[in-house]
Amino acid sequence: MSAVIEVKEISKRFGTTTALDRVSLSVEAGKVLALLGPNGAGKTTLVRVLATLVRPDDGHASIGGFDVQKDATTVRTLIGLAGQFATVDELLTGRENLELVGLLYHLDKKVYRQRAEEVLERMSLADVCDKQVKTYSGGMRRRLDLAASLMGLSPVLFLDEPTTGLDPRTRNDLWQFVQDLVAGGTTVLLTTQYMEEAEHLADSIIVLDSGHVAAEGTSEQLKDRLGGNVLEVRVSKRADLERAVSLIADLGSAVPRTDPALNQVLLPIKNGTNVLIAAGRLLEDHGIALDDLGIRRPSLDDVFLAITGHATEAHATEAVKMEGSR
Ligand SMILES: Nc1ncnc2c1ncn2[C@@H]1O[C@H](COP(=O)(O)OP(=O)(O)O)[C@@H](O)[C@H]1O
Ligand SMILES: [Mg+2]
Repeated sequence: MSAVIEVKEISKRFGTTTALDRVSLSVEAGKVLALLGPNGAGKTTLVRVLATLVRPDDGHASIGGFDVQKDATTVRTLIGLAGQFATVDELLTGRENLELVGLLYHLDKKVYRQRAEEVLERMSLADVCDKQVKTYSGGMRRRLDLAASLMGLSPVLFLDEPTTGLDPRTRNDLWQFVQDLVAGGTTVLLTTQYMEEAEHLADSIIVLDSGHVAAEGTSEQLKDRLGGNVLEVRVSKRADLERAVSLIADLGSAVPRTDPALNQVLLPIKNGTNVLIAAGRLLEDHGIALDDLGIRRPSLDDVFLAITGHATEAHATEAVKMEGSR
């Protein structure tokens, strides 16, 4: 099967910043690709190149076989885009915004009215859809922006950090909606800072770090790159955490990561059962009480850290917040 989204060696510089460094990828029809990376990784720039909004310095990209530069007009008829920042009209109501988008897509009035009704319902905006957007909360605007990207019934959809800033319930609604679209044949490229989101929605994942592709594969393949498991230790007393880390660090295959909020140490390991037993003994011998001790497959967070040498932005932000609240 040929790829619907094809990106070959795309580079883009802004002054001295290399936003994209020879990025290549492809997405087949009806599949979801997640571009996973922290702030500044180049995710939005790539989406903007594919949406014909930014001209790359080098490389080629096509949508449905149409070149994003030479055939930009055709490409625009094939794509829906939900940008990272709300682009809706404040003075119109939610419904009017969507109907305007339907008009721009040259849809039949009957079709776009019906469609607006559906997506408003789906994005939990039915109650407020006849109020002016200026009265909406941030989360409501975000949902309206997403709703707008769905009006064109486009075969290809770009979602730039679709759930950043959404509450968990709305996020789950959105995930379900994306899955329904994909089941209907839509091809999706989404960007995200959340491992969980990539894992939940994507058929394949590209890890983007400082403009270059740091890794790619399914979430399972990325996890396999760690070549092992993760030992999870939860101490009963916060005061024991640092001591537990130094006791077990040598048993690991990479540096341990601590999560003080959960009294937890995560340690990448190669030899599962032996390490589990050794760690249990060591901690017991030193009188450290445990709430939990176990082995699990690595999460994408573990993988990102192992591949890029640093945590994701989302993770770093959480760590900072935790610092602040202590
Ligand atoms: N219009 C622009 N002018 C100058 N620098 C830009 C512009 N757009 C993006 N950048 C820079 O390019 C890099 C990648 O940005 P971006 O694609 O927005 O990353 P992400 O969406 O992953 O956070 C960043 O260093 C950013 O500051
Ligand atoms: Mg961005």
